[in-house]
Amino acid sequence: MATLTREKVLEENKRVHKLEDQFYLERHPEQTNFYQSRLVKKTVDHVCSLLDSPSEDILELGCGTGYLYLEFLKRGHKITGVDLSAEMISVLESKIKKDDRKRSRLVVNDVETFAEIDDKKYSAIIVSALLHHLYDFESVIKMYCDRLMPGGVFLIFFEPLKQNINSVIRYRMHQTLAGIDETIYRQKMIRKKISILEGEYHHADYQRQFGGIDPYRLKDLFGVEGLKTLQIEKYCARRFGLSSFLATQFLKTQNTFNLLAKK
Ligand SMILES: C[S@@+](CC[C@H](N)C(=O)[O-])C[C@H]1O[C@@H](n2cnc3c(N)ncnc32)[C@H](O)[C@@H]1O
Repeated sequence: MATLTREKVLEENKRVHKLEDQFYLERHPEQTNFYQSRLVKKTVDHVCSLLDSPSEDILELGCGTGYLYLEFLKRGHKITGVDLSAEMISVLESKIKKDDRKRSRLVVNDVETFAEIDDKKYSAIIVSALLHHLYDFESVIKMYCDRLMPGGVFLIFFEPLKQNINSVIRYRMHQTLAGIDETIYRQKMIRKKISILEGEYHHADYQRQFGGIDPYRLKDLFGVEGLKTLQIEKYCARRFGLSSFLATQFLKTQNTFNLLAKK
């Protein structure tokens, strides 16, 4: 796995996200359950409260089918979404209301090539569940810090957390809860006749082989680029909201993080 090239990671991401297309959010209820939806609302409101006006220029990298994109569009902002997958972008396009289209710009491209052809500055740059798909997420972060206007905000959302396991007992309980959560999820997907793409993500989830993303490494990177990290939030994402709630609040386990930084 460590011998994968940048081109292969891009190619695998194109391939798996083509398979995901309109079922993406149904296959990933961990992004839409009540626990995560509460975090989405709180985070989007927080980012909007840091912007000067209700119609700022926002850039979303790896926007997919519009999980965060549509939230910012709904709140009146102008937003550019970039994604490698024409299929994911096409699903997003179909969800945009007619009246909102003039504030929306969608681009099919990989984020590194887009940085070379777009020289605009943005008030906010957002990424959700993208960094772990990138071959070199650190260089992408550096590239885009430069595209942020002074006072602008950078949101990293819903990334797999790189962490150490400190308590074996807690880890076992975490695994048991995860097992129950996953079993119910599988039964639900069978009932809905939606295939699960688990074996497909081996190469596309490139950073998972290194255990995920370290938010404190990102904090250091942002520091070097002149951004101050305002908040790092860690929690346990699960397929169902109740499992996320139990894991985060009672088991105190974490597998996901959000980070907000300001220039
Ligand atoms: C896990 S999905 C997340 C989608 C969306 N941000 C969300 O949170 O629902 C990852 C997205 O990143 C896109 N992607 C992966 N590698 C990319 C790259 N190098 N450049 C642009 N988009 C990429 C995929 O096509 C996919 O839509």
